[in-house]
This record gives sequence, C-alpha cells and structure tokens, in this order.
Amino acid sequence: MRQLIAGNWKMHGLGADSAALAEGIKAGAARAGGLACDLLVCPPFTQIAAVARILAGSPVVVGGQDCHAQGQGAHTGDISAAMLADAGATWVILGHSERRQNHGEIDELVREKVEAATAAGLTPIVCVGETEEQRVGGQETEVVGWQISGSLPKGFKGVVAYEPVWAIGTGRTPTEADVATMHAFIREELVRQFGEEDGQAIRILYGGSVKPSNAGALLAVPNVGGALVGGASLKAEDFLGIARGAIARRP
Ligand code: 13P
Repeated sequence: MRQLIAGNWKMHGLGADSAALAEGIKAGAARAGGLACDLLVCPPFTQIAAVARILAGSPVVVGGQDCHAQGQGAHTGDISAAMLADAGATWVILGHSERRQNHGEIDELVREKVEAATAAGLTPIVCVGETEEQRVGGQETEVVGWQISGSLPKGFKGVVAYEPVWAIGTGRTPTEADVATMHAFIREELVRQFGEEDGQAIRILYGGSVKPSNAGALLAVPNVGGALVGGASLKAEDFLGIARGAIARRP
C-alpha cells in the first residue's frame, strides 16, 4: 500500500502564499520524477479552488480541513462536502483535535460528517488521539478506541490519522515504540470493526511534529501508512523532504 503524505495548512496563507506553496510542491513532485507515495494538501477553504487549479494534472491532490454534516441549508459560515468537491477537493480532514477542542465536535458529529463526505465522493481522513493528561493517566488506548468506534460509520472507506494532541505543534513526538503500539492497537480495532480485509486496507497516518529529520524513522514503523503534517507542510522543501522519507523506505 502506498504511503500518503498529507499537508494540513490549517489557518495559514493568503492567496499569494498558498499559490507559491502549491507551485513549489508541484515543481518538487515533478522533479522527483515519479513518487513512491501519494501527496495531498489541505489549504484553508478560501484557497482550495485556486490551489486545485494550480495542481490540476499533477500527482498532488487537494482536500478540505472540515465540512458540515448536512448537504445544504441554513448553516451560516459552514461549508458542505459537495461545495468542497465542487471547488476541486477530493479529500477532507474530519475530527481534527483542533475542531474537537475549539468547536466542541464529538464523535457522533464526526461520524455524520464522514457519511456526508463519503456521499459527496470525498475521501475522509478521520483524526483521533489522546491528550497529554490522558496519556499520563494511561488511558490513551481506551480514548482512541472510543474515538474510532464512535467516529467511523459502517462501511468506512477512508483513512485514520493518529495525532496525539500533545505532539501537535510542540516538537515532541511519541517514541517509535509508542507509535508502533498505538498503530497496532488501531489496526486491531479496525479489523474488529470492519473485518480482516477491509480493516487491513485502511491506511493509518501518524501526525504530530513530523519533520524531514524524523519522517524516515516514523514512516518505517509497522502499520504507519503515511503522515499528516502541520507546520512542516507550509514549506515545500520540508513537505517534500518528508515525502522522500516515505520514498526511501517504501519503494
Ligand atoms: P504539526 O505537524 O504542526 O505538529 O501539526 C500536526 C497536525 O495537527 C496535522 O493535522
């Protein structure tokens, strides 16, 4: 299975910045001359259409960072999955810990969003992960287990991203052994929920302070199907450097 390197640009970049970043990634991906991993970028809503136009015809695909659970209606300030698709997105990140924390999103809502995204033809990336307090309390697998069973609908066809909240934007990462343990646990849960074949086919990304210098080691951990990258995805060279970690280890 090819690894997926996904960039979450979060709330960064005006038009010129996003265009330059997209151009840089496109050029770097072309220079790499055939990538051994899949590349995805998730700009802010307002940049999706322009970035999708720049990346059209390149191997880099585009996603949103959230969508509404309803197809349309009186939801001021929200964006539907069909609107993302219409703007050129084919993927969407859902249930990111920043959405869970800042917007009170609970598993049930995330599951409804996953269903809406799938119905609109988007591939969802569903984020799970424990807080520092939960890890210190030894509850990390329990928390992630609940998030998985609550956030993924029946027949889920998408990607799961394990992002420990305490590793996001902090420069801290779990040890490779801890990543291995959690990803093995997530794999078991997916197999339990969706059966052997479908559960094994779901990519499980690692996210949280991934950078070029640690990408190779993290991407080599069993059951790591790629990376969800925040800060380091805002520089084309760093993002491509992370992708080269995937290329080097999974030719
Ligand atoms: P950082 O790579 O900046 O730690 O962010 C990770 C993340 O939240 C990606 O969704």
